Amino acid sequence: MRVLLFVGLSAGLVAQTTEVRALLQKRCLACHGPAQQMSGLRLDDREAGLKGGYSGPAILPGKSGESKLIERVLSTKEGFSMPPSGARLTAAEVETLKQWIDRGAEWPFTSAAKANNAKLSHWAFQPVRRPAVPAGVHPVDSLVRAKLSALSLSPSPEAAKPTLARRVSLDLRGIPPSPAEMREYLDDPRPDAYERMVDRFLAAPHFGEKWARHWLDLARYADSDG
Ligand code: HEC
Repeated sequence: MRVLLFVGLSAGLVAQTTEVRALLQKRCLACHGPAQQMSGLRLDDREAGLKGGYSGPAILPGKSGESKLIERVLSTKEGFSMPPSGARLTAAEVETLKQWIDRGAEWPFTSAAKANNAKLSHWAFQPVRRPAVPAGVHPVDSLVRAKLSALSLSPSPEAAKPTLARRVSLDLRGIPPSPAEMREYLDDPRPDAYERMVDRFLAAPHFGEKWARHWLDLARYADSDG
């Protein structure tokens, strides 16, 4: 029973917060928001909202009767009443604001500035940092090894040359190496024989064909009706 009551209450609060948000957005933020803060008042952010405007706090959480914001929206005095133009807030709208304040003025917004800060903390906006790489290890391998050791795994032993050639050929070109290509690699005694084979595969038209396939798939290309 109590649980139900609590759920009902908090759902009501959420609905009310959404209502307050919509109301402030529609009737107040043009002058008390990110673009303008008339009379120093900004209502799209809790910190700024509670600080108030030039004449001090406009919202006293829990005390709608003493909050200047309510005084302003109730007033009909020209130049004092809020909003200064357009229709007066309806009695129901004023009631919503009152209840919101009396319940503690849970802020309905995250200000644009804060939302932007949250966006700016996204990794894509962070300066590039070069992680330390152990000497003699390829940087990509060092990342892979770090993850493996975090999972208490160790790398598999290096595959035999024919297996490597087959894998990299399928990866890059979507087809296995021809017997001649395989021979060329296996017979190459130079220490960079593998890199040379990869370069040959990258230079082959099949490499372009294989990757173009993905783009054609994305573009929903089909020879027939598809
Ligand atoms: C068209 C612009 C505009 C809109 C919209 C507007 N206000 Fe204002 N607001 C003002 C101006 C201008 C003042 C300064 C008036 C004065 O000196 O009394 C002000 C002052 C206030 C103040 C007093 C701030 C202080 O500390 O001096 C409060 C509170 C307030 N507004 C609340 C609201 C609320 C709530 C809404 C929406 C229901 C709203 N306003 C909509 C322009 C606006």
